[in-house]
Amino acid sequence: MSFIEERETMRDAPIGVFDSGVGGLTVAREIMRQIPKERIIYFGDTARVPYGNKSKETVTKFSRQIVRFLQGQHVKAIVVACNTASAYALDEIEKEIDIPIIGVVKPGAKVAAESTGNGKIGVIGTEGTIGSRIYDTYIKEINPDITVIGKACPLFVPLVEEGLWQDPVTDEIAARYLSGLIDSGIDTLILGCTHYPMIRSTVGKIMGEKVTLVNPAYETARELKELLRTENLLSEEKQGLGSNCYRFYVSDMADKFQTFANSILKYGILSAKKINIEEY
Ligand code: DGL
Repeated sequence: MSFIEERETMRDAPIGVFDSGVGGLTVAREIMRQIPKERIIYFGDTARVPYGNKSKETVTKFSRQIVRFLQGQHVKAIVVACNTASAYALDEIEKEIDIPIIGVVKPGAKVAAESTGNGKIGVIGTEGTIGSRIYDTYIKEINPDITVIGKACPLFVPLVEEGLWQDPVTDEIAARYLSGLIDSGIDTLILGCTHYPMIRSTVGKIMGEKVTLVNPAYETARELKELLRTENLLSEEKQGLGSNCYRFYVSDMADKFQTFANSILKYGILSAKKINIEEY
């Protein structure tokens, strides 16, 4: 097959998107909105969520297995729709594969650096993401004068996975986690975990109107589109209608995932298939 023929075939291939669970759906949703002609294969590692309190070694091992699974599905590009995996595993995996792969941290850092007026940015995320200081690194590369204040919020992921998006328990925990950030004078707050957009209104209420909330998903989808264009991989045809373009795989609890996905995605998803990710 010639190079040109190969590119044409690859343009029709799906994009692989993965997360530890349902959080990456907030990124998939944005990709569906911004580049609706693209097919998506989503993997949620529901058997091994959360990633945020696991070591770099473990998260990298899990991410490699998922990337191998997605490559087996012949995806043309991969989006690491998980901040923790982006922080821990992306650099290494990028060197090991020959298709484009992007994470959510760099796009989020870029938007936040552009948005801050007073040079004080807060980041909330998992223990892994905050401990890695990856947002500080990328933001300081853009502007070394910006101060970045991180706060790990480990209970947010289980609250979101349990569907407690608007609940007094979530309000109470969020108020405790965020109190220090309110006093720090930040004008921008990065939702540095792809689960957090689901509790955006709770976070917004506590932080107040003067703090701009940054959801890295928008910029990630925009950068993905740009990357596919540059690589001559943008799909030109609408490949099926609505949910037919999208396939979902999980490592456990497929029915629960399906119900969850249907509550946040525009297209009803037909099914989520359970696979044994340990085989990859
Ligand atoms: N949604 C992921 C993130 O962005 C993972 C959360 C977790 O599994 O702890 O970090």
